[in-house]
Amino acid sequence: MRNLIPSWIRVPVLFFIILGTVEFFVDSGNQPAFVKYPAVLLFLLLVLFILISIEGIVGSLENVMFQKLDPEAKAKFIADRNKSVQLDWLKKTYIKLLGSKPLEKEDEIILDHSYDGIKELDNDLPPWWKYAFYISIVFAVVYLLRFEVFSGQNQIEEFDTELAEAKVAIDAYKKTAKGLVDVNSVTQLTETADLAAGKNIFNTNCVACHMADGGGGIGPNLTDTHWILGGDIKSIFHTVSEGGRSGKGMIAWKAQLKPLEIAQVASYVMTFQGTTPANPKAAEGDIIVDPNAGTEGSEATTDADAVTTESTEETAETQIDTTLQAETPAEDINE
Ligand code: HEC
Repeated sequence: MRNLIPSWIRVPVLFFIILGTVEFFVDSGNQPAFVKYPAVLLFLLLVLFILISIEGIVGSLENVMFQKLDPEAKAKFIADRNKSVQLDWLKKTYIKLLGSKPLEKEDEIILDHSYDGIKELDNDLPPWWKYAFYISIVFAVVYLLRFEVFSGQNQIEEFDTELAEAKVAIDAYKKTAKGLVDVNSVTQLTETADLAAGKNIFNTNCVACHMADGGGGIGPNLTDTHWILGGDIKSIFHTVSEGGRSGKGMIAWKAQLKPLEIAQVASYVMTFQGTTPANPKAAEGDIIVDPNAGTEGSEATTDADAVTTESTEETAETQIDTTLQAETPAEDINE
């Protein structure tokens, strides 16, 4: 085996097998592992060093051994080594593909003209070239049929398909990834952990204006069924994320809170429904009762959406009014 493959092939082949294995098993994202983790690079260098040293040591051992042999054994050793000529078939194929005539047969193909003593040989085309040419003809036919006759996808169509697939994948990912919620994908969170986190966020940021029990103060009462900006999860998410009507004092929290946190606090706000706060502020806005509150039937969502659209339209009108009244210094708070 050792004699079959010379060391200049053996070392790189072994090295690349090890490199491939490392890349396969070490999870390094888009980057190669040895770029991302310097330790891997160090390991690979060490491996290379060891491989080369083993070759060196074995080589010199063989040399020492060879020097100690008597002449007869030396001759036998050399003969043995030449018999198992390294990669014989590779050499043979190479020569065959080159297709050149051996030197001693050159006079068969020599042309009978000479320019200043330079003579020309009438060699055949090298087989490697001919085969490549035939392959290219086959390729051209297949290509022509596939893309021109049977209208296969061209690059632009391929790109569009991939883009569409990627969009589908992103949507699927967004559905499962909680942290990526936005106003369109948000759903009411019901898990205790989420509500606890929401309560925490509410107590840190919102109690100053809405009171700890949601009864309201500077901000409106959050426990009643009256909503200025809509009481379904999407509307509340939108209010918290983008802020209330300009000049009213409810800022856009998206700068401070992550989308998931907004979803958590919005879900927590929804749990105020039906509770009785200590000092309820008088109701403001329209009565919006979601008949299916708490259930997640698709019909319920549609109902709630319809209501929201109405109330958002109203809000938009009111907002124009407020903007027209212009001298509201509190507008700065919104910035
Ligand atoms: C500076 C006082 C203030 C703080 C702090 C505040 N809000 Fe408000 N909030 C208001 C005011 C004022 C409104 C009414 C906005 C309007 O009329 O457009 C409001 C409106 C709302 C509404 C809509 C109520 C409705 O009837 O449609 C929700 C929901 C809400 N706040 C939730 C929150 C949450 C959650 C927090 C904490 C992240 C918070 N608010 C922090 C003042 C505040």
